[in-house]
Amino acid sequence: METIPKRIIASLYTLLLLLNATNIVKSEPTQDKQSLLSFLSQIHHENRLQWNPSESACNWIGVQCDPTNSSVTSLRLPGVGLVGEIPPNTLTSLTQLRILSLRSNRLSGAIPAGFSNLTLLRSLYLQNNQFSGEFPTALTELTRLTRLDISSNTLSGPLPFSLANLTHLTGLFLQNNEFSGRIPSIDLPSLADFNVSNNRLNGSIPNSLARFPSSSFENNLDLCGGPLPPCNPFFPSPTPSPLPPPSSAPVRKNNRKLSTAAIVGISVAGGVLILLLLLCLIFLLIRKRRSKTRKVQKPPGIITARTVAEAGTSSSKDDITGGSVEGGDRNKLVFFEGGRYSFDLEDLLRASAEVLGKGSVGTSYKAVLEEGTTVVVKRLKDVTAAKREFEQQMAVVGNVKHENVLPLRAFYFSKDEKLLVCDFMPAGSLSALLHGSRGTGRTPLDWDNRLRIALSTARGLTHLHTTEKMVHGNIKSSNILLKQENLDACISDFGLNPLFSNTTFTNHRIMGYRAPEVLEARKVTFKSDVYGFGVLLLELLTGKSPNQASLGEEEIDLPRWVQSVVREEWTAEVFDVELMSNHSVEEEMVQLLQIGMACVAIVPDQRPEMQEVLRMIEDMNSSRGDTDDGLRHSSDSQTPSKESRLSPPGPGVTP
Ligand SMILES: *[C@@H]1O[C@H](CO)[C@@H](O)[C@H](O)[C@H]1NC(C)=O
Ligand SMILES: *[C@@H]1O[C@H](CO)[C@@H](O)[C@H](O)[C@H]1NC(C)=O
Ligand SMILES: *[C@@H]1O[C@H](CO)[C@@H](O)[C@H](O)[C@H]1NC(C)=O
Ligand SMILES: *[C@@H]1O[C@H](CO)[C@@H](O)[C@H](O)[C@H]1NC(C)=O
Ligand SMILES: *[C@@H]1O[C@H](CO)[C@@H](O)[C@H](O)[C@H]1NC(C)=O
Repeated sequence: METIPKRIIASLYTLLLLLNATNIVKSEPTQDKQSLLSFLSQIHHENRLQWNPSESACNWIGVQCDPTNSSVTSLRLPGVGLVGEIPPNTLTSLTQLRILSLRSNRLSGAIPAGFSNLTLLRSLYLQNNQFSGEFPTALTELTRLTRLDISSNTLSGPLPFSLANLTHLTGLFLQNNEFSGRIPSIDLPSLADFNVSNNRLNGSIPNSLARFPSSSFENNLDLCGGPLPPCNPFFPSPTPSPLPPPSSAPVRKNNRKLSTAAIVGISVAGGVLILLLLLCLIFLLIRKRRSKTRKVQKPPGIITARTVAEAGTSSSKDDITGGSVEGGDRNKLVFFEGGRYSFDLEDLLRASAEVLGKGSVGTSYKAVLEEGTTVVVKRLKDVTAAKREFEQQMAVVGNVKHENVLPLRAFYFSKDEKLLVCDFMPAGSLSALLHGSRGTGRTPLDWDNRLRIALSTARGLTHLHTTEKMVHGNIKSSNILLKQENLDACISDFGLNPLFSNTTFTNHRIMGYRAPEVLEARKVTFKSDVYGFGVLLLELLTGKSPNQASLGEEEIDLPRWVQSVVREEWTAEVFDVELMSNHSVEEEMVQLLQIGMACVAIVPDQRPEMQEVLRMIEDMNSSRGDTDDGLRHSSDSQTPSKESRLSPPGPGVTP
């Protein structure tokens, strides 16, 4: 009974509000009207615009409002004879604008930086004016833009890389200006119309824009590649190339010598000359090969990505002279879909780089590209797979997508150089977090974070095993990278084993994680991944690195060491001292220890499947927040069936 009057009152109230609202609706966009009047009064124009101040602005020529008439959403003033600079604080105050067209006037000066205030702008047409100055970077902040036309002005200077921010662009018209420098390698998937003709651009056309016709690029200073004739790889005209002269100069000379000598040889038709020529060629080839091997065997240390890519270039050069022409493929990084990068080998060439680490598959570099992107480049060594195998495996690896798996972004294959490109993870690896700079100045990795890392790693690995049916083959703490925000784990370096011959992995760095059967049969399996994951759990719990040849006095591997300590008495001694301050989590630690030990069972069949491991960790995680009683209860109720597996090494398991 009581609710009915309340409801009536409520609906009356709503009605009142609505009436009030329609009142507001009837009014016009006062503020925007002011801005428009102020714009018109301050700019020279040919009186073609008759905006009557006593009328609603929504009725004016060229003006459109939103449905409630509270703001101006579209302003189209093409060819109305506007002259001079756009007065400040006029149009830039129309913050609700979706469409702005001022084309075909005689507007001049710089395009106002205040345009960055028009955040809702979808279409901007400023073509056929006399705007000057540099490309207005303010425009690249308008991330909703779909059409941007600033053609036929006198804009100059470089095109900013921040154009890449305009991910919704379908049309970008920059022709008939005086832009100079290189075309930034922007990759805008929805871009359908693109024109930079009649400017002063030079350098190579980025791969991402090569799909446009040559008329989009014609009449520039010196553009090459894409739809235009290819850039000469040995005369890198595009930009001042960092290729050191010694490596390119001899090649250039060779080519010249070859052609003139050939002409002479033909004209004289002297066999002797041809013979000499051949000798000369052989000599040069040998010399070049030598200098190349010298280059590749550069000592480790701070090597720039330049040297990485340089080796790639020289090898493709080799391919040509060797007759095995790879056509347009050479020098090409192959990108996977869904990535946000758009650079080419040339950009990598110019990147600065530092060594991140040397692993069992090769050396990783952190490369900072010119436009600020940071990526990790892995230079694989001792790859035995042929090009096709390699590409096939990369296609498989590149398709893996999961939040706890580090995606492969691109790869490069040439005879002498195999590169992988992944995201750079600034938070670093689990290995660095656990073992890096112990002691002073170190923030201990607390239990919650360790459990979170264990859980997210298990999720990633389970995804590989179940959804992708892929063996990781290289589980270790340095391949577990952490996300900056929440320390969730991301697994890297997966699925690379098929690229190497079986003998590659006798490397000591990974020994501690290798299941016993892998050391013998040299074949990785799902179960050997589970073993590696088990070692990882023990590493998280003990804080000890399985790579250490000896733990303390004994020469023993981590699983056996844990087993020996635990067998004597379920002692807390195994756990990392950093964890010992918090006694409330001891039970969880023991639980995770049990899971870890189940994973490192000697006999592969006794190890649980990865999805089972994941479920156990998830159960553990979800029982958190319960009372102590609940925790014990739930763990009791789920363990009996696994009891035999989870208990410390039984008789059948001990070595
Ligand atoms: C908005 O303004 C236009 C032009 O004055 C008018 O025709 C229209 O009825 C107005 N709409 C509303 C909802 O008031
Ligand atoms: C841009 O917007 C800010 C805040 O809305 C305002 O203070 C500023 O004056 C605007 N700039 C221009 C050029 O209109
Ligand atoms: C736009 O691009 C620049 C340079 O690439 C970058 O620094 C900036 O953060 C980007 N801005 C947005 C809003 O994405
Ligand atoms: C690009 O602009 C130039 C000059 O306006 C024009 O000749 C050419 O046809 C345009 N190309 C494309 C693909 O639109
Ligand atoms: C390309 O243009 C830039 C700027 O105009 C200039 O500095 C550079 O030398 C040019 N490069 C070549 C190879 O012409």
